[in-house]
Amino acid sequence: MRAKLPIAILISGRGSNMEALLNACDAPDYPAEVVAVLSNNPDAAGLDIARAKGIPAHAIDHRPFRQDRESHERAMDRALREAGARIICLAGYMRVLTPFFVKAWSGRMLNIHPSLLPKYPGLHTHQRALDSGDTTHGATVHLVTSGVDEGPVIAQARINIRPDDTAETLSERLLPKEHALYQDALRQFITDQASVL
Ligand code: GAR
Repeated sequence: MRAKLPIAILISGRGSNMEALLNACDAPDYPAEVVAVLSNNPDAAGLDIARAKGIPAHAIDHRPFRQDRESHERAMDRALREAGARIICLAGYMRVLTPFFVKAWSGRMLNIHPSLLPKYPGLHTHQRALDSGDTTHGATVHLVTSGVDEGPVIAQARINIRPDDTAETLSERLLPKEHALYQDALRQFITDQASVL
């Protein structure tokens, strides 16, 4: 069996997608291991979930950096390289990244977004799908490029919108699909890219 690829996960809050990736990595035949969880938010609940599983989890608070977003991301980048990460998974990391960081991890950074991209980049995706009268909704795992929620799609999961759905019910029904999607997409990405990673 090939060695597991070291990955890091970036979060800003709850961390349920992070937890799904940690759980996937527990399987001996899953091709990744999580070497670091980082958050820009010291109060992110996901940090405690990671620590409880024995994963090194730290916050690098963005606030002391004020407007200097790149310096914050240079500090993140140093921590990620020190941890030995080869791939980054954004999992509810709610900051727009600087060109420095996007370039530094080009081809090696994945994101999960709660819409069927290219529909609804940005925020409030569930409400926007409802407001548009869509009959299906979903989530996307994609490579991160310089545009927000752009970049080549790796995989998508789809759910039907019911007549009585609200943004809350859609979000609740989509979340477990996001978890399975991210687990599968990361496995697929690493397997397909094995020769270049
Ligand atoms: C998830 O629904 C994820 O798709 C979304 O934030 C939530 C994080 O939840 N991400 C974005 O909106 C990124 N543009 P989690 O912290 O429980 O994984």
